[in-house]
Amino acid sequence: MSDTPKSHGRKSIRASLQPRDLMEDRADLARAWTAQVITLFPDAFPGLLGESLTGKALKDGIWQLRPIDLRRFGEGKHRNVDDTPAGGGAGMVLRPDVVGAAIESAREMSRGRMPILYLSPRGRPFDQAMARDLAACDGVTLLCGRFEGVDQRVLDHYEIQEVSLGDFVMTGGEIAAQALIDACVRLRPGVLGNEASAVEESFSDGLLEHPQYTRPAEWQGRTIPEVLLSGHHARIADWRRAQSEELTRERRPDLWKAYKARRG
Ligand SMILES: C[S@@+](CC[C@H](N)C(=O)[O-])C[C@H]1O[C@@H](n2cnc3c(N)ncnc32)[C@H](O)[C@@H]1O
Repeated sequence: MSDTPKSHGRKSIRASLQPRDLMEDRADLARAWTAQVITLFPDAFPGLLGESLTGKALKDGIWQLRPIDLRRFGEGKHRNVDDTPAGGGAGMVLRPDVVGAAIESAREMSRGRMPILYLSPRGRPFDQAMARDLAACDGVTLLCGRFEGVDQRVLDHYEIQEVSLGDFVMTGGEIAAQALIDACVRLRPGVLGNEASAVEESFSDGLLEHPQYTRPAEWQGRTIPEVLLSGHHARIADWRRAQSEELTRERRPDLWKAYKARRG
């Protein structure tokens, strides 16, 4: 395979480097922001995180990814990780002894401030403020559930916070883990090509982002708002702010209320 850099947006990444090669523990990454993921599907990582800006940052050692295979801690010849729910009912539950052993292993490899979170539809909804807090830590350990979830005792014992991606149910926590990691990694210094984009985007000041336009100037009879072509920076900033406020008021009354309250 060719070793020429391929363009992924504004950044480039070597074509010969496979996404999975990006996850080997390297001594020089001892201080990099670290995502540890306890999962039954370690091969699902880095997934999309190995592409584009997060992939480039992984390759550059701005962050590192350590999947921890839950199956390795399974019981018996078949490495069982689950059992039937106490009290009956459908599905299976991940055993506390198995998950606990995986968490202990993750804790041994942790350093500094690295909260342990369980991805769960019952959790606190993940948001940009949480992404900012986690990005400011040394990393995060994420527990991905499967089946009916994890035995409650392991969550209580380690005082694990539950975090939800939204009010819907997925088959496992891996997609949620990747979404959370992506949102954190892009806030780490040096990851975004244009640092300003993290300051101006949705939620950065409690508002949704204004509409964006690019060339061509006319498409399907639709033109770009005149003010954006005026070159008048103050007028453009005013227009964008007004659009942001209008969109937030219409679409997200919860955010709008909080924004108004903050402004007094
Ligand atoms: C089928 S779900 C379990 C749902 C659980 N029985 C409940 O009703 O809350 C299996 C796993 O997927 C993950 N998951 C599903 N939906 C999620 C969401 N909205 N946010 C984060 N993780 C989710 C969790 O790790 C969960 O343990």
